[in-house]
Amino acid sequence: MSSPRKVYVEVTTLCNLQCSMCVKHAQGSCIPEGHMAMEVFQSLVTGLQSVEFLVLNGIGEPLLHPDLVKMVQLARQHMPEKGIIGFQSNGLLVNDSNAEKLLVSGLDTICLSLDNLEDTRAELRGKEHSLSPVINAVKSLDRARNKSARPFQLGIEVVISRDNMHQLNDLVAWAGTHRVDYILVSHLYSYDGRGQESILFSPNTRSAVQLYEKWQKRAQELGVNLENLPNVRLHYARDHQDQTLLEIGEWMRKEATASGIRMHLQNLFTFDAELAQTLGQIFEQAECAAKSLGIALHLPPKLAYEEKERHCFFMDEQASFVDQYGNISPCHFLWHTFRCQVNNEPLLVEHHTYGNVQDESLEEIWQKKSYKEFRQEATQSSYSTCWSCTPGPCANLLKQNAMDIRDCHGSQVPCGHCMWSIGWTRCL
Ligand SMILES: C[S@@+](CC[C@H](N)C(=O)[O-])C[C@H]1O[C@@H](n2cnc3c(N)ncnc32)[C@H](O)[C@@H]1O
Ligand code: SF4
Ligand code: SF4
Ligand code: SF4
Repeated sequence: MSSPRKVYVEVTTLCNLQCSMCVKHAQGSCIPEGHMAMEVFQSLVTGLQSVEFLVLNGIGEPLLHPDLVKMVQLARQHMPEKGIIGFQSNGLLVNDSNAEKLLVSGLDTICLSLDNLEDTRAELRGKEHSLSPVINAVKSLDRARNKSARPFQLGIEVVISRDNMHQLNDLVAWAGTHRVDYILVSHLYSYDGRGQESILFSPNTRSAVQLYEKWQKRAQELGVNLENLPNVRLHYARDHQDQTLLEIGEWMRKEATASGIRMHLQNLFTFDAELAQTLGQIFEQAECAAKSLGIALHLPPKLAYEEKERHCFFMDEQASFVDQYGNISPCHFLWHTFRCQVNNEPLLVEHHTYGNVQDESLEEIWQKKSYKEFRQEATQSSYSTCWSCTPGPCANLLKQNAMDIRDCHGSQVPCGHCMWSIGWTRCL
């Protein structure tokens, strides 16, 4: 019988920081605070015999859990020898003593959050999260790694935005001198609109941008600006320029329809080609530097995946998500109840679960018909394209729980309006 290959366990939702960018602190979120009870973890752990990667964090700081070391020990006893155990941490609580205990217990990796080398992130991250605690954490982990017989991988996650993009190369160089093995770069996503002006990711696809740029050039040659298209439609008496603009708009629409390209005009008007080019150069330099230092660098896309290329890491990796009470959710997006934004419109996402490990085994829950159907649909990527939908998010999405409706493609998974499917965010 098949079972999940990767399991994310939210051992705690408590945190010692209050990063304003975090979904935990986003306006309208409702993530109850608490530690996972050991009984819940014990019910889960027996189902980990064939799990390849166990991630011991969700939203919250895992090192706040008083039994984290015990959890690692228990998981190690039940998981395959080659199975990886790891977690993400803000690093504030790492010290020589817990680093050594965790590695001796069988921990394989920690991914520390580090967004910059200067303290320019105070607004999004909180003033306490500066470089010095992360350096201390790295040193403690390095000392523990030197004593450990088991290989250990040290990673950092960088949330990239306009504020820190120019530090990426320095961060890679820093990682090289601190024996970091891998770097995960995620774009900043704004759950409630705060910090939105710093976002580098564009929810447009490359083909939509190319098509728009072609017709914008044509419009400029004819002395009009495509950005005025929505206004022209409202004009009572249309002049010659208005007519030209409407015609160009129509040609562009026909070409988009014929090529199967979906366009969100407002997102295309605000697309910053110069910024995307600068980011591309920064990424290239960072890739070169990481390669020469032997660091595995995972960069995000600059634009949304093309419609057919949309995919979800969690589905690719056959992941399952366990909350503090033992409830199983299919993915990060449905792990909690929170508010987010699709094209600046607020959207409520409600926690969705297929069962609880205290009542049924992980394998039994994984095999449930409804859960299997979810994975099938989410893997097919035939869901709606809400990020390229000008009138969206539609009334359906706004009014109801994301899992209780069918989107306009008839699909029941909420992947069309989720930020993970277009490559916006990523995690361990
Ligand atoms: C939610 S935290 C949990 C682990 C731990 N508390 C930490 O901060 O590393 C996991 C990762 O998500 C990142 N993150 C938080 N809010 C984010 C956002 N709005 N957009 C992108 N990444 C975000 C954090 O920087 C961190 O690297
Ligand atoms: S990003 Fe991590 S450290 Fe910051 S509030 Fe969220 S869980 Fe805590
Ligand atoms: S489900 Fe709604 S928001 Fe999504 S593509 Fe369809 S109409 Fe647009
Ligand atoms: S809703 Fe998002 S996170 Fe969940 S399966 Fe779909 S793409 Fe993945």
